[in-house]
Amino acid sequence: MTADESALGRARERDDEDPLSHLRDRFFLPDDLYMDGNSLGPLSEDAEAALDRAVEEWRDLAIRGWTDADPDWFTYGERLGGRLASLVGAREDEVVVANSTTVNIHTLVGTFYDPERGPKIVVDDLDFPTDHYAIRAQLRSRGVDPDDALRIVESRDGRTIAREDVLDAVDDDVGMVFLPSVLYRSGQLFDIEAITEAAHDAGALAGFDLAHSVGVVPHQLADAGVDFAVWCHYKYLNAGPGAIAGLYVNERHFGVTPALAGWWGNDKETMFEMRLTYEPAASAGAFQIGTVPILSAAPLDGALDVLDDAGGVAVAREKSLALTDYLIDLVDERLPECEVGTPRTREERGGHVAVEHPEAARISEVLRERGVVVDYRPPNVVRVCPAPLYTRFEDVWHVVDRLRDIIDERAYERVGDQRGGVT
Ligand SMILES: Cc1ncc(COP(=O)(O)O)c(C=O)c1O
Repeated sequence: MTADESALGRARERDDEDPLSHLRDRFFLPDDLYMDGNSLGPLSEDAEAALDRAVEEWRDLAIRGWTDADPDWFTYGERLGGRLASLVGAREDEVVVANSTTVNIHTLVGTFYDPERGPKIVVDDLDFPTDHYAIRAQLRSRGVDPDDALRIVESRDGRTIAREDVLDAVDDDVGMVFLPSVLYRSGQLFDIEAITEAAHDAGALAGFDLAHSVGVVPHQLADAGVDFAVWCHYKYLNAGPGAIAGLYVNERHFGVTPALAGWWGNDKETMFEMRLTYEPAASAGAFQIGTVPILSAAPLDGALDVLDDAGGVAVAREKSLALTDYLIDLVDERLPECEVGTPRTREERGGHVAVEHPEAARISEVLRERGVVVDYRPPNVVRVCPAPLYTRFEDVWHVVDRLRDIIDERAYERVGDQRGGVT
């Protein structure tokens, strides 16, 4: 037996011992090795069935679906929020599904930005761009110059943001800190508790974009006292392309009028009185805007069953860490030409690994041709995501093995210039 064969054998043994291995069969994995679940999670049988059920109810009940569907559509956003509460460590009424992540940033930053509390908003220079676009737009709409108001913490290494740089940026001029839980490129996991505490000590509010952690990293937002958070469900929660997003608002802010108010956020008791003045629901539900899009919410209901059957997000996190540990070890051992751009300490790592190589764009393209779905992030990152609900240790071994072949063969040299994807 060669060294490679015995290493592969050991990976297979780990799969045999994996308590989540049975979940893989519930997913449709059209590609050989799907390592892109942090961009778009795959369809599960559960999500498909939930969507089918919503379509059947639409066919059979039409308008009566709002009250007679099971579950009813009228409170669909609140009910799904309740199901998500344990994932983010919040009370059920502090979470709702609504809108898109970008829209939720607009409404939450727009609501909670108060120059009287402090004119500056702390962000960082490695954020996902849409966060900055939305924050800047909200500042402009208030007559504030974003270039004055944004305090952008700069990365020292182009990969990560130093914790002390964030803490140093928070002073009495700051009214809000808005940061990601996990950086979309390097996969660095931020210390939400410490950042929230620093924000509160300075009299500021703390908000987070959890797009790259929800469903794979457990959160305790309420215990940490986080003021608000947003996230999407199409990554680790596998709810489908453009699925409805989620948000959290701490109960101490209930009753505030959202920047983007709409009738679906009105108190449900009085909504159909059709008054022309808005009365916010006494819950995070107030941040819904228009009618809940049932067909983009239904798959989430099924997708959450898979995570429940896994035993919850803490169990998923354990496997995710084991997979990313394994991936990092293999890159160190077998790919000396590559660097790991993701923090190595478990407490600072989300669910994906940034494998860096100067030819990352073209390597990603060849990987895709060879059945390994990853994405490329400029300038030099092959983003590899072994999402825990359906990825095997064996898959991780094969990804590194194919990378080894591609680099040995210099197979990327025949590929034209590539551009990165979007999410
Ligand atoms: C951190 C982060 N925020 C927001 C988004 C996108 O938001 P939306 O769903 O509104 O397009 C992404 C997309 O990948 C993301 O990574």
